[in-house]
Amino acid sequence: MCLRHFGIGAGDIVLVPTLTFIATVNAVMYQSAEPVFFDCDEHMCLNLDQVEAYLSHECRVEGGRTVEKSSGRTVKAVIPVHVFGDHCDMVHLMRLAEEYHLFVIEDATESLGGTFSRSPYTGRHTGTVGHAGVFSFNGNKIITTGGGGMIVSADEAAIAHMRDYQKHPFIRYSGFKKSIL
Ligand SMILES: Cc1ncc(COP(=O)(O)O)c(C=O)c1O
Repeated sequence: MCLRHFGIGAGDIVLVPTLTFIATVNAVMYQSAEPVFFDCDEHMCLNLDQVEAYLSHECRVEGGRTVEKSSGRTVKAVIPVHVFGDHCDMVHLMRLAEEYHLFVIEDATESLGGTFSRSPYTGRHTGTVGHAGVFSFNGNKIITTGGGGMIVSADEAAIAHMRDYQKHPFIRYSGFKKSIL
């Protein structure tokens, strides 16, 4: 729902870590977008030095968007995944996001209740720094509703928009059908 809300669609690139549960990547595939994978750092989270090297060497910024040179595709979003109760360096990531016009959707499923340790985000909960944060409440999670999850965002209009998607599953799954068939 977040990816759809932020306008990520067929052929767009979304940056993801290799070390995550497949649900993170499935969300990208359901939009018929293309995941580009990066290794993890010493915190087992998205390696931002690799992300920065990719953006600065393999992409160019033109007209307020970032384009991958080899494919001409637009790099639209990044999904940092905060694993094992630890977290990505959101200071570094938000700087990259601003410079390269990326939406940041934090997958904070595995860090529920955790807080950031670096200024200016010290003490803020994981999931609350990016444009949106997502938490799975699947059966094996820190808290569970059996299934389902939670999206958090400071953008009230975004939340209202995504609530509508949630009420109308036919909209939510249209990309899914396209990517499977
Ligand atoms: C990082 C992460 N994201 C997402 C999920 C699951 O998401 P969903 O509830 O959509 O299956 C998990 C585990 O199940 C996970 O570990």
